[in-house]
Amino acid sequence: MNPKGNAKLTLADGKTVDLPVYSGTHGPDVIDIRKLYAQTGMFTYDPGFMSTSSCNSTITFIDGDKGELLYRGYPIEQLATKCDFMDTCHLLLYGDLPDAAQKKDFVGRVTNHTMVHEQMQFFLRGFRRDAHPMAVMTGLVGALSAFYPDSINLHDARQRDISAIRLIAKMPTLVAMAYKYTIGQPINYPRNDLGYSANFMRMMFAVPAAEYKVNEVLVRALDRIFILHADHEQNASTSTVRLCASSGTNPFAAIAAGVACLWGPAHGGANEAALGMLADIQRDGGVAKIGEFITRVKDKNSTVRLMGFGHRVYKNHDPRATLMRETCHEVLNELGLHDDPTFKLAMALEKIALEDEYFVSRKLYPNVDFYSGIVQKAIGIPVPLFTAIFALARTVGWIAQLNEMIADPEYKIGRPRQLYVGAARRDIVKK
Ligand code: CMC
Repeated sequence: MNPKGNAKLTLADGKTVDLPVYSGTHGPDVIDIRKLYAQTGMFTYDPGFMSTSSCNSTITFIDGDKGELLYRGYPIEQLATKCDFMDTCHLLLYGDLPDAAQKKDFVGRVTNHTMVHEQMQFFLRGFRRDAHPMAVMTGLVGALSAFYPDSINLHDARQRDISAIRLIAKMPTLVAMAYKYTIGQPINYPRNDLGYSANFMRMMFAVPAAEYKVNEVLVRALDRIFILHADHEQNASTSTVRLCASSGTNPFAAIAAGVACLWGPAHGGANEAALGMLADIQRDGGVAKIGEFITRVKDKNSTVRLMGFGHRVYKNHDPRATLMRETCHEVLNELGLHDDPTFKLAMALEKIALEDEYFVSRKLYPNVDFYSGIVQKAIGIPVPLFTAIFALARTVGWIAQLNEMIADPEYKIGRPRQLYVGAARRDIVKK
């Protein structure tokens, strides 16, 4: 990268330093502060990374003010309507959409890896039946490094590619296994004559006692959830994966770290939290109690938030939410669920919040998780499994970002610094 110019920083003592400024394809310019400490003896201070680019990347671009999301330059609206999840995975991993031959080859490779080592079932059985699926997923994904030790060398591009395909292929199998285990039903092996999303639906919902028929509307809805959640540039879990992998650990361990980070309610846990919130309002009296709930949300002294609303980056609208809203209505129509009390409540809440001055002035719009939770509940996915579905979809993004970092000749172990505000040096005095 060549700098487009310099930014001049003047310190209190009058000393000035020139810092290179770079432009990307889109988005704000960045000031390169890598040499700042060497030049001034000072660090920058930016908890929460409010003004910090942690890397350069060619994968995903978000314009939060415009409400725009691009994967490798393609708008999310085009990918969601013209492509499927396998196209999206190829695009994120290898940089472009596949042609027919590349698609056949890619789908074939993923399909060949859908089964998991039989011994993983015994590992799964070590968990309590009521364990949270994200606790199980963190364990299972981390354990893949013990089951597939032939593809754990992060610095070998071929091994990284094999582990990428293994992870994409096996995540649906692991999520479905975790689900069947909690409800005490036999685990379904993958069926390689089905597409990626249809196979997942079957592993989740088929039972040996009955024939399982794939519903194309629901499969398309699930495939769209996967596309919309596949990557989102340097969010908390992706940054976790990058930081974790920067130490040279193996890809399965780094992705397990991403799963653990995603679990939090301010990130991937938001759709579960949104459904929990709807259940609470329903229990307290339903639609008639929305007003009271919104008053609590707006109260400065309360910690209650409207889950599924607001976003750190999107301050206009979340383009994924627009697409997911469309899918939400398709699914509710297909299943005849428009009169279901939870869904009626969700729609009433959406309407009130979109018109309320508190939310409008703070640019708080429904995010993708608000609708994806409703869609998943309608499909029959239990609420505690929502974040695991998000992890399944995000796996490809995490791997693409990890690969990009490792292939960058300038990559270094991630090691932030700090502003120490604890006790000054002192000596122990025995009491
Ligand atoms: N409900 C009520 N008030 C809110 C909400 C909300 N969901 N989100 C933000 N605010 C208020 C907040 O109280 C603050 O008000 P004030 O200026 O009066 O103090 C203002 O809006 C700005 O909030 P913030 O906390 O500075 O905003 P942030 O960018 O740090 O937070 C967020 C982003 C997503 C953590 C937050 O909006 C939130 O907690 N939302 C609910 C959880 C959620 O849905 N998370 C999923 C995010 S999308 C999934 C993903 O991409 O990972």
